[in-house]
Amino acid sequence: MLVALLAALAAQAATLEPYRVAADAIPDPLGGLVGVAARGAALVKDRERGNCLICHHGEDPTEPFQGAIGPPLSGVGSRLSAGQIRLRLVDMSRLDPATVMPPYYRTENLSDVAEAYRGQPALTAQEIEDVVSYLATLRTE
Ligand code: HEC
Repeated sequence: MLVALLAALAAQAATLEPYRVAADAIPDPLGGLVGVAARGAALVKDRERGNCLICHHGEDPTEPFQGAIGPPLSGVGSRLSAGQIRLRLVDMSRLDPATVMPPYYRTENLSDVAEAYRGQPALTAQEIEDVVSYLATLRTE
């Protein structure tokens, strides 16, 4: 029973939604899922999950300890299309092999991953879509 459960979990963990890259974007939502911007906003702030603000300034100036290693996220929805944002979250190293931004939807060639998390992407397909939806709302005009 336990073995069957673990095998099922392992099989589930190993499957990523397939996606198509066109130029510098992943045009279609992962798994055809619809993102929820409010959940994406929470993930971007969440220090245990996205932890985006360790490297980026977000929208909320009162949020402590925001980083400046990456560009500020404000206005990103004006600079980039949803598809371009999606590719950058899924695997920034496809665009910049030397990037320090972690790949949030990749399970191969990761270093320093704790045993319990091996074979799983940092964010699920649904979470990627939630964050894409949120970032698309960060427009400058
Ligand atoms: C360890 C640092 C780091 C973390 C953590 C990180 N990023 Fe980044 N990010 C970067 C850097 C550096 C860049 C600049 C692009 C490059 O590296 O080539 C970048 C670029 C981006 C871009 C493109 C911005 C633009 O204007 O072109 C987006 C969007 C983005 N990050 C979103 C996120 C989100 C959302 C998270 C959390 C889920 C996140 N990043 C986590 C470092 C990080």
